[in-house]
Amino acid sequence: MKKDFISILDINKEELGQLLSDAIELKRQKKAGITHQLLPGKTLAMIFEKSSTRTHISFEVGMNELGGHALFLNARDMQIWRGEEIRDTSRAASRYVSAMMIRAYKHSTIEEFARYATIPVVNGLSDMEHPCQLLADIMTMQEHFGSTKDLKVAWVGDGNNVCHSLILSTVLTGLDVTVSAPKGYEPDPGYMKKAEKLGGKVKFVREPEKAVKDAEVIVTDTWVSMGDEGERDERLKLFGDYTVDSDLMRLASPSARVLHCLPAHRGEEITDEVMEGGQSLIWDEAENRLHAQKALLVRLLKK
Ligand code: CP
Ligand code: NVA
Repeated sequence: MKKDFISILDINKEELGQLLSDAIELKRQKKAGITHQLLPGKTLAMIFEKSSTRTHISFEVGMNELGGHALFLNARDMQIWRGEEIRDTSRAASRYVSAMMIRAYKHSTIEEFARYATIPVVNGLSDMEHPCQLLADIMTMQEHFGSTKDLKVAWVGDGNNVCHSLILSTVLTGLDVTVSAPKGYEPDPGYMKKAEKLGGKVKFVREPEKAVKDAEVIVTDTWVSMGDEGERDERLKLFGDYTVDSDLMRLASPSARVLHCLPAHRGEEITDEVMEGGQSLIWDEAENRLHAQKALLVRLLKK
């Protein structure tokens, strides 16, 4: 049966462990100049309804480095934008390519693609989840701290798609996550409940100062996600206390590190000082998108 990766919980603990060790090995080999032909003749269609820098580059480079090929498709140039049905697009594309990666406004769009596809479908970000980002984040935390078990993580800011994937990831990683967000911007309660039910350690506090207390990892993201642009002014007013700055960092563990999926808005969710400072793991995190997704593609596509 074909495997999809639409949510981080589409893999189990063992599969995540294997994927991370593959990613670390692929990273080591790339640095040693070792090249591969792990996916010869395979094509990944990358369908984007929204902008992207990292997801686009890392998937395309990843496929090339595995000996395959990636096809960039702006959804606005496809018939889907003129009303062709997802089920028809998905079945036709399944006859040409080996897998599809989709970045969509609605999570249900990606689910519908997957329902009709006969090939693996990967979520390259939806309004609700960003599982590929979490693969890179987990890999970065594991590399830096040696283990994710009971590692104290604080989320500061919007309870958004990346936050939802972080919450679900507690089930697989043993991360101990505290989310802080302004009123009205809490993560979807369904994600908190699902993680708790499956044994994940996750709690909510309103104040960012309480969330970061003794935390080893501080994670933040934009206050205005793609699709939320119409609420920008209102959000900027409400999120003022949720900037990850040096004062907030002083409340965390002295050895704490910072993650941000990027793109960042310096002076909003994070200061320039924290981004450029010694506690940032942001560039390793961005790099790890490549290695983690290569491991994922091999898992989904190799016979
Ligand atoms: N973090 C991330 O997904 O970045 P892009 O939007 O640039 O792909
Ligand atoms: N939460 C952000 C993540 C961007 C990678 C967004 O959805 O725009």
